[in-house]
Amino acid sequence: MLVLGIETSCDETAAAVVRDGRVLSSVVASQTELHEQYGGVVPELASRAHLERIMPIVSRAIADAGVTLREIEGVSVGNRPGLIGSLLVGVAAAKALAWSLSVPLIGVDHVHAHLFAGMLGRASSSNAGAGGAASIEFPALGLVVSGGHTSLYLVRSWTELKRLGATIDDAMGEAFDKAAVILGLPFPGGPNLDVLAQTPGADDRAVDLPVSRLGTESLDFSFSGLKTAMLYEVRGVPGKLDGTPPAMTEARRADLAASFQRAAVKAAIVKLERAIERGPRDAGGAYRAIIAGGGVTANSRLRRELAELAKKRGLPLVIPAMSLCVDNAAMIAGLGEVKLASGERSGWELAAAPTTGG
Ligand code: KG4
Ligand code: ZN
Repeated sequence: MLVLGIETSCDETAAAVVRDGRVLSSVVASQTELHEQYGGVVPELASRAHLERIMPIVSRAIADAGVTLREIEGVSVGNRPGLIGSLLVGVAAAKALAWSLSVPLIGVDHVHAHLFAGMLGRASSSNAGAGGAASIEFPALGLVVSGGHTSLYLVRSWTELKRLGATIDDAMGEAFDKAAVILGLPFPGGPNLDVLAQTPGADDRAVDLPVSRLGTESLDFSFSGLKTAMLYEVRGVPGKLDGTPPAMTEARRADLAASFQRAAVKAAIVKLERAIERGPRDAGGAYRAIIAGGGVTANSRLRRELAELAKKRGLPLVIPAMSLCVDNAAMIAGLGEVKLASGERSGWELAAAPTTGG
């Protein structure tokens, strides 16, 4: 099935064309330069930029895929969660296109789509129509780590996901971005901290930063304590007499980045281990795969440790290609294709929503 995907939940205007789980085109127009000067995404500017860019981006995705708009058999759009003004642009464009082409419309949850990103490219043309979803076994344990979300899921199928836990404060990507600011790294923080942590000779045990566990049963996450500990390492502990921090040399910056990365990744791995031990209680049996997605799955250490965990547990790991970790529309089109193939449809009343559906 030839599906057009549209993604406008935050500051990336994206469109993609997917056929049978294969990405034919994926165009992402980032608004980084627009928001950089404010140190964060300005919602009003984001929605205006989406409005200007959405149709040229769709046209490019169609052209890059080597197809015509008339061949499109379904339109998929990320309708939640995100900035409401931004989401509305994508939802309106998707409705207009689906209506004018007389093809079905499907709304997908952006967070669920992050999990699906790792399926793209895994599909062989032989499992046509299934969007590649047939090539892993369920139930799977899903981890989404992005700038806005950090959650664990029981994935019974691509249309049945149950959230097992989520961050109670900062998202993992947000913590990376804030730690990067503390270290004086330029925007975008997460990827730059990752690069610094890989400096030859950087000692990831130089500083003992806290790994949150939140009690023995919890599958939730917390990153704010780690962020504060990092701040104290750099600026000193307020009110403490001997709280003056060591001088910030290049070597110490690299050590701090490596130590932060070690603790942040460990916090995610600890929860995956815990969930695997517990098993998919509602579904019975054991997990058959680990699925990871979201911007932070581009992190070199997280990728390595996820691969080690999967190997240790004898489970297949589904993780996106580097280009599909951060926000994109291919994951929206891919998940939309699976939903459409299973008979799901959205009505013309499909609404944008700021929160995830679960
Ligand atoms: O999934 P995404 O594009 O947006 C949301 O849906 O939130 O994720 C963006 C997040 C940012 O916080 C960014 O710093 C983080 O992913 N990120 C990384 C790396 N690449 C992107 N964090 C750590 N290491 C990386 N290599
Ligand atoms: Zn995202």
